Amino acid sequence: MSATIIDGRQIAAQMREEIKAETEKLIREHGVTPGLVTILVGENPASVSYVTAKQKASKELGFYSVQDSRPADISEADLLALVDGYNKDPRIHGILVQLPLPKHIDENKVLYAMDPDKDVDGFHPVNVGRLMIGEAKFLPCTPAGIQQLLIRSGTAIEGAEVVVVGRSNIVGKPIANILLQKKEGANATVTVCHTRTRDIASHTRRADILIVAAGFPNAVTGDMVKKGAVVIDVGVNRVGEKPSSTVPGKMVPILKGDVDFDAVRERASAITPVPGGVGPMTITMLMFNTLKSAKGAAGVD
Ligand code: GUN
Repeated sequence: MSATIIDGRQIAAQMREEIKAETEKLIREHGVTPGLVTILVGENPASVSYVTAKQKASKELGFYSVQDSRPADISEADLLALVDGYNKDPRIHGILVQLPLPKHIDENKVLYAMDPDKDVDGFHPVNVGRLMIGEAKFLPCTPAGIQQLLIRSGTAIEGAEVVVVGRSNIVGKPIANILLQKKEGANATVTVCHTRTRDIASHTRRADILIVAAGFPNAVTGDMVKKGAVVIDVGVNRVGEKPSSTVPGKMVPILKGDVDFDAVRERASAITPVPGGVGPMTITMLMFNTLKSAKGAAGVD
């Protein structure tokens, strides 16, 4: 058996069409344009490229988009004041502070300073707590994207054995929580494996849905997967460089997920590729959250 590919680019494109149509409706009927600010501190190349992609998506959807770039030596107090200004700005419905921040700034202090009702990343502890009790306002973007990939690929989630490999605050813990909720597109039995789990393979082999966010290549090999499982690979590992196919003379990274794709593909019923699986969904869910926040501000549900 060779698994069906769950095409994140296609599902993301479909969702962006839906978000665009809803944005036009919100502007037309309520005069509210979703507003997103992305705050970038310093010039970390990966952060610059993520923020650029977020801005591009936001503009394509017709959002009011602000890119606020600050030097790496901005003081913590100045950054906190900047966030507070956007908390109070009625044109802004979503605030995203690109992480990581320079070492002299306490990331938690900055995240906590954000109005939870504008925290479209879903990282503020109020939003983490809301998710835990089934009252989520904004789901964190990567796990929310994983849930959409499962729903939109027709995967049966209710009652399924889900095994998550990795317990990070931005992927492992929230996806476990999302799929555990007594809600549509959830209601699964969830196991979370981590670096101190005694026999990871004994857990992964039970999974109907296996979600891998371990942080290194080949964390899951073919023998660790049940026949017919649905496998979501959240990993993005740079394993080398190759010449760009579009820009002559430019080198681009070669990316690999956390799953041994070729071997696992022969056992799974469906699998996400890297790139082109979870990645395109993350920015899409950021746009979804910003639209949701703007709808809330306009009193629309
Ligand atoms: N850095 C890497 N991923 C993310 C993300 O999803 N949100 C923010 N704010 N920073 C990041």
